[in-house]
This record gives sequence, structure tokens and C-alpha cells, in this order.
Amino acid sequence: MIKIAPSILSANFSKLGEDVKDVERAGADYIHVDVMDGHFVPNLTIGPLVVEALRPVTKLPLDVHLMIENPDVYIPQFAKAGADIISVHVEACPHLHRTIHLIKEQGVKAGIVLNPATPVEMIEPILADVDLVLLMTVNPGFGGQVFIESVLPKIERVAALVRSSNLNIEIEVDGGINSETARRCIAAGANVLVAGSAIYNQKDRTKAISSLRV
Ligand code: DX5
Ligand code: ZN
Repeated sequence: MIKIAPSILSANFSKLGEDVKDVERAGADYIHVDVMDGHFVPNLTIGPLVVEALRPVTKLPLDVHLMIENPDVYIPQFAKAGADIISVHVEACPHLHRTIHLIKEQGVKAGIVLNPATPVEMIEPILADVDLVLLMTVNPGFGGQVFIESVLPKIERVAALVRSSNLNIEIEVDGGINSETARRCIAAGANVLVAGSAIYNQKDRTKAISSLRV
């Protein structure tokens, strides 16, 4: 089953609640929340207050993607605000095992994220402890960027690792996902697709979401 996670980074922030409800009605599976600190990535977005405000607006799991330095400081706040999945970048976590377990101690699913140039080997020692692996298919920071092809073999490698170890782990991709790149990511083994501009820039979001599932 392929899950679609619209990224609210491409939503209209002046009517964020409406834009979240809209993709829920249109068939979304998760709401993807991009948190950026202006240090780990060159952009600033939102914090736990916005997650807290969105919590009563939707029944869908809130999939919180932390693109921040020192995530340990903020993980309890995002969990308390209502996050269902919290994902951290390996590049931002010198004590990754501690960070993943901090997430799980909050009763939240833990995800691990790799930038396009970070090798899959980085996650092997911690793979059995995570619920989700997120492979960035753009360099994080902005919506609307072009898909980086060289990530496709990484998706295949993660899928093979997950299969061979019999783990129940979701494989998510994020960045430059449209109906064409979605098809290639699914073929490589991804089962959760994040899409910002491919959903929010379309008038018919039901159609936009279903076109990504093929
Ligand atoms: C990029 C973010 C993505 C972004 C995806 O740093 O993590 O979630 O919003 O946007 P699109 O789908 O437009 O590439
Ligand atoms: Zn994201």
C-alpha cells in the first residue's frame, strides 16, 4: 500500500487548517510537517506551536520532519504538541542512538533521514530501532526543487536491507516527487511519498494525490 504525505510547506499558511483538511478529504495518508531552523538548512519555517494548532484539525498522523540542529532539545515539545512520527537527520545527530530512543520514549514513531549525499551505511547500526527511513530526493530546505536521480539506488539498498532483516519499516521519499518520479521511487521500494508542490499547486487535489499512487 502506497501512502501519500502532502507537505504543508507548499500550502497557503494564511489558511493552513483549511489546506490540511482539504488534502485529508482528497485522500492523503499523512500530513508532512517540515520544520527548519535556518542553521541545518537555509530556511526557517515552523515550530511546535503550529503542530499543536494543527492537531485538532485532522485525524491523519502528523509526520514531523525535523531539519534542525540539536533536535533533542525540541523532540519532547513536538511530541507533546501531537506529532505521531518524528524524523531526524543523521547529519544533525552525533548521538543518533540516544536521539532515536528519546523519540520512542515520548511514545512517538521514530524516523531517520538521509540527505542525498549521505551513504546508506550510516543507518545500518540503528535500522532495527526505527519505524521509518526517509530518503531525501532533494537537498532539504525548499519546496519545488528537482528530483535527484542518484538517490534511486539508495532506495533499492534500503529496501533490500529492510526485506532481508524482516523489519517492519516504512521507506519514505521527499523532494521533487511528481507522478513520474513517484513511479520510479515506488519501483525502487519506497512506500510513503511526500509531495508538496505536486499536490498544493494543483486545483484538483484528489486527482493530484491519486496520480502519485501509480
Ligand atoms: C524539502 C522538504 C520537502 C518539501 C517537498 O526540504 O523536506 O518536504 O516540502 O516539496 P516538493 O514536493 O515541492 O519538492
Ligand atoms: Zn520534508
